[in-house]
Amino acid sequence: MSPLLPSRCGVARSANREPPPYRFPADFLWGTATAAYQIEGTQSDDWAAFEQDVIQHRRFEQLAPGKPRPGHIHRLGDYSQEIRQKKTDFDSRIEDDLAMAAAMGHQAYRFSISWARLFPSPAHTEPDPAGLAYYQRIFAALARGRMTAVVTLFHFTSPAWLWQQRAGRRGWERPDALFHWERFVRAVLHHFGEHMPIVCTLNEPMVYVYAGYLDGVFPPHEQRGAPQSVLPLVERLLEAHALAYHLVKADAARRGKSVLVGFAQHTRAFEPLRSRHPLDRVAAAVIERMFIWDFCDAVSSGTLRMTGTFFKKEIPNLRGTQDYLGINYYGRYYIKATPLTEPHFEVLMHDPEAPEADRPSDLGWASYPRGFRVILQEAARRYQLPIYILENGTADARDDDTLRRQLLVEHIHEMWLARRHGADVRGYFHWSLLDNFEWAEGFEARFGLIKVDYQDGFRRTPRPSAGLFSRIIAQSGLDEATCREYGLLSG
Ligand code: FCB
Repeated sequence: MSPLLPSRCGVARSANREPPPYRFPADFLWGTATAAYQIEGTQSDDWAAFEQDVIQHRRFEQLAPGKPRPGHIHRLGDYSQEIRQKKTDFDSRIEDDLAMAAAMGHQAYRFSISWARLFPSPAHTEPDPAGLAYYQRIFAALARGRMTAVVTLFHFTSPAWLWQQRAGRRGWERPDALFHWERFVRAVLHHFGEHMPIVCTLNEPMVYVYAGYLDGVFPPHEQRGAPQSVLPLVERLLEAHALAYHLVKADAARRGKSVLVGFAQHTRAFEPLRSRHPLDRVAAAVIERMFIWDFCDAVSSGTLRMTGTFFKKEIPNLRGTQDYLGINYYGRYYIKATPLTEPHFEVLMHDPEAPEADRPSDLGWASYPRGFRVILQEAARRYQLPIYILENGTADARDDDTLRRQLLVEHIHEMWLARRHGADVRGYFHWSLLDNFEWAEGFEARFGLIKVDYQDGFRRTPRPSAGLFSRIIAQSGLDEATCREYGLLSG
């Protein structure tokens, strides 16, 4: 359990007195995760419109590595129109890419279905046949490879037409947004429901809210100011989640099948930059609650509250609408209180005083395997639900991706420890199968087990981490040799 006021932990990984092997049960689910917009050919949606705008106005800057500049996509202009349109060229390689994942021993694959691909215009009251045929290919390839499909219904992008104003509102805030969302979810279920044993309704709703409406680095690029200003949007996303949850459950019940439904929460360890500074500690604790737990608490209790405010609102049909907790984990953020300037805190991606200790990724994100275990145990304590790790990974562009390999082993070790301490973790999805378009970071951040060579016709080359992940899957965890090779046994 995280203490009321966190202090900074100097140790990046947990000690373990038990000798290896560190094995997981036979039915533990191993796989990778992707998202439609990041790998598929571009559809007519809010991100495509943003990309066009970025190209037109040549907005390619960053504030710092890992800190996007609002309205910009890092170095997008370095990539041709063809690359920007095809992203990873997944469209023409679905079968090959998924056969490769299967050959690597992956047992599951998490992907998202593009709302805009199924409903490219508001005139579509039925899903577009070409869009259905596209996802049919994915489900067929997964069936051939005997991989479990984990389907995300909303992963950050929505159709361009949803951004035309209705009653002065756009996107998720339009009065008819849930009507269209329901149509989309029903269509997905009608056509693919029988192949969807695990469903993720929303990917990282709080990242969507923060990046799009407070920080302004994702569409629609708003900077609304006070956190309370986004509450109506958070409510709407909770309603969307609840609606999808009940639709998926009812569909499965009709088919006489069981299904697990949840959403993916983005987590980080939020720690005070200055360990003993009381304001840093308070700020870190408040941000952790607002960013990670308020939304999860709402889904669990049915009532949305916002840490640090008196806001409280019951959302109909929301209570208990998660069968599992979906956790995405990407390391540590440091919080520095800045009482005299809005928004009264700063988020640092790594400690500028001791960067080596943080082993930052190519994006400058501090790695922090120990925090993974802390979050998992906290999640288990709070909700007593099964947990799926729906994302965890590292930006490491090197051909010999030593950082990705090292962190993969360390995170799996922490996950094993979390299970040892009672967290019911049932699956692990590495982000990502292949290099892809990393939102405002563009194509520069490389998260793939498999390298995509954009200069050479999207050629795929597995990095050493891909082989390591296969070995881990084959052994259902970490054997002694792997632990020794990656230094888990020393000290
Ligand atoms: C997560 C997103 C995913 C990807 C990874 C690196 O926040 O869900 O799409 O961008 O980060």
